[in-house]
Formats: sequence, structure tokens, C-alpha cells
Amino acid sequence: MAASPPQAVSIVLVGMPGCGKSTVGRHLARQFGYRFTDSDSDIEARLGHSIREHFERYGEASFRDLEQTVIGELSGEGRVVLATGGGAVLREVNRLALRRGGNRVVYLRSSPEELARRLRHDTQRPLLQGGDALKKLRDLFRVRDPLYREVAHYVIDAGRTSLPTLVNLVAMQ
Ligand code: S3P
Repeated sequence: MAASPPQAVSIVLVGMPGCGKSTVGRHLARQFGYRFTDSDSDIEARLGHSIREHFERYGEASFRDLEQTVIGELSGEGRVVLATGGGAVLREVNRLALRRGGNRVVYLRSSPEELARRLRHDTQRPLLQGGDALKKLRDLFRVRDPLYREVAHYVIDAGRTSLPTLVNLVAMQ
């Protein structure tokens, strides 16, 4: 089993919807004895309703503003594993916040094809509903893959790797 990180830094997971940030993050947190946080769950707890509902009622920009506030707060905590929403890297202010204070950022990279397969039954992600989900994922990936790479210290191929291997790969970094 991989060792815990040498210092009390936080670990931030970024990547497309469905790449496994929350699942991997929960396991990593357990392994390191860190607290697990998920920016989307935090946002939903503050809203008192789902992100999907929020998009429908108030639009994406309102969600992104709240996401920025939450990312700003959670990225400043030490000894957490933070799973971020897939669009958290879109704003530069978030990319800067995620790397601050020695945080290590890991990009769990999956292809749009693999993500479409995993998310084929999803009804909760507003940006993927209605129409051709694979095309939507390809469009998002084209814009975001360079941003994930920009913010990340490490890129890990999450496409077809098993969960225990993924957790160990991240831990080894
Ligand atoms: C989003 C991804 C979602 C959530 C929101 C917007 C995006 O998080 O933050 O629906 O822009 O890709 P996941 O990456 O956990 O699905």
C-alpha cells in the first residue's frame, strides 16, 4: 500500500464529470486520514436543492459564482481531499485557488467516449441532459482538457484503470 504524503498538504482532484473524482477521493481520504470534501455536495447543502434544479431556476452563471465561493473556502483548508465539479477549472481564479498553499492537484483523465459510457444513465448533470451526450462531452473536453492540464501537478489516466490501482497511483504521486 502507498505511503501517506510527507506534509500536511491537501489533495485536489479535477477532471471531467464521471471520471471518478468523488469515489477515488473518498478512498484516498480514508487512506491518508484526511477529511473528504466534495465541492458539489457542499454547494447543494448550502442551496438546499440540487445543482440540476439550480441550473434550471437560476442558470449556470449563478452556479459558477457559488462554486467560486465554495472552491475559495475549501481550497484553503489543510489535510483534505477535495473533489471538484467538472467545470471548477473554467475560472482562472479557481485554478489559482486550487493550487494554493502547497495543495497538490491531480487530473483524473478519461476520454469522452469512456465518460459517455459511464454516464449513460445519468439524469443529474445539467450540462449533459437532452441530445447527444457524447457530443456534449467531446465539446466540454476540447475546452477543458487544456485547463485541467494547466492546473494539475499530475495527470493520471483514469479511463480503464481499476479503483484500487487509481487510488494507489494518486497516492504514489
Ligand atoms: C459540472 C459538473 C458537475 C457539477 C455541475 C457542473 C460541469 O460536477 O459541478 O453539474 O460543468 O461539468 P461533476 O464533475 O462531479 O459531475
